[in-house]
Amino acid sequence: MHRCEACGITTARWAGRCPTCGQWNSLREEAVPVTPTGAPGGRPVHDGVGPVALCAVDVSGAAPRSTGLTELDRVLGGGLVPGSVTLLGGEPGVGKSTLLLQVLRSVAATGATVVLVSAEESAAQVRLRAERLGPVPPTLLLLEATDIRVVARCMEELAPHLVVVDSVQAVADPDVAGLPGGVPQVRACAEYLVRMAKTHHVPFVLVGHVTKDGALAGPRVLEHLVDTVMSVEGDRHHALRMVRATKHRFGPTGELGLFAMGDTGLAAVTDPHRLLLGDRRPGTPGSAVLAAMEGQRALLVEIQALRAPASSESAPARRSAQGVDTGRLALLLAVLEQHAGVVLGHTDVFASAVGGIRVTEPAADLALVLALASAVAGTALPPDVVAFGEVGLGGEIRQVPHAPRRLSEASRIGFRRAIVPASCPDGPPGIELQRVTSVHEAIALALVVDPPGERRAVPVTL
Ligand code: TYD
Ligand code: MG
Repeated sequence: MHRCEACGITTARWAGRCPTCGQWNSLREEAVPVTPTGAPGGRPVHDGVGPVALCAVDVSGAAPRSTGLTELDRVLGGGLVPGSVTLLGGEPGVGKSTLLLQVLRSVAATGATVVLVSAEESAAQVRLRAERLGPVPPTLLLLEATDIRVVARCMEELAPHLVVVDSVQAVADPDVAGLPGGVPQVRACAEYLVRMAKTHHVPFVLVGHVTKDGALAGPRVLEHLVDTVMSVEGDRHHALRMVRATKHRFGPTGELGLFAMGDTGLAAVTDPHRLLLGDRRPGTPGSAVLAAMEGQRALLVEIQALRAPASSESAPARRSAQGVDTGRLALLLAVLEQHAGVVLGHTDVFASAVGGIRVTEPAADLALVLALASAVAGTALPPDVVAFGEVGLGGEIRQVPHAPRRLSEASRIGFRRAIVPASCPDGPPGIELQRVTSVHEAIALALVVDPPGERRAVPVTL
């Protein structure tokens, strides 16, 4: 058969391009083990276990065990389940090893034996990092190894409570051909570790590096094999780190854990608006606050826009975005020109989400449009206004999910007005809703300034 190195699917026929993920030249031939005949499809007829009443199945062993980090427990729905395998993905340097070392420390602090299989970093490097995080409990054991078979020996001898393998791309099974990090090796090692976790009923966490475009084959292939896939995201130049589960066999996947990278590792962030809105300068044109949703969590994010004279008359005008989708920015600029009379001309436009956060939901459209209109008009939005709503190609404002949660969070932090889609349900008392149906209407409302005694609208034709 042929297996795609990018997405892991198998197909009988070779093709130049993977039929599932579209990657070119990624199909590699693989030998198929011949299964003993029996039931149709080559599956064994019976493996010695009969059916049991589902309601009689023992679930006591499947209770999650706390990781000692509340933000992480929240993402996992309580903690790590014995016998489960979790893949922790993320770009190099984002903080995966740091996060797991903190988990190992806090589990070891309860007296349980935990093992870190370090295949990338030397023992001395790990110790230095661990000491940055605080005292190192004596039951935190380090295994400097790249041969996956030593893990088996360690399981027999130590019966640990938790095993972390850092990283799955750096370990190898000597019985399997190929370089560490290649698809056959990564898959073989993961299968080996999954077996190990199930046999010994111990939670395993595997670190997997992912490049910015998610191109590295390893972790993608692993997603099918493991029980839980978590990722650490964040901009290396900012403190904020977001941890979320994209696949979770033991609980929901919508939860978001927030951490701030500091001098002593990752600290839980309980009031993200301090990080995200702390340096905001209300009264500056080109800024709007979005009541965003990240998973099940409402977050207030400042969206900024700037228009500047084009760097050259002949070159095309620049459209640059950070933390916001560039395609979405271009689309919203076109909507602004066509439906709200905001003429940009041959100027450069920049937009960003502040704080190293990435907003991808369509609900961000309205705040981005308001920031752009405010930048073009040179008029600031009132400081106590938030916005959310999707913008359609006709300039209409469309409803988005979780409005009550967005409004509650905005109200809690002190915002008093919200510009929202027309069908938005009422929010908590204390926050006035301004329901709008079009971009035009939203801009007119947001850019109204109230000099004492009179109510004046900034001309909408900007
Ligand atoms: P690391 O956990 O090694 O990332 P990964 O395993 O995902 O590759 O994190 C490395 C970064 O974190 C590095 O740039 C240094 C920084 N860091 C801190 O800022 N504070 C700390 O206490 C620690 C341990 C690391
Ligand atoms: Mg690391």
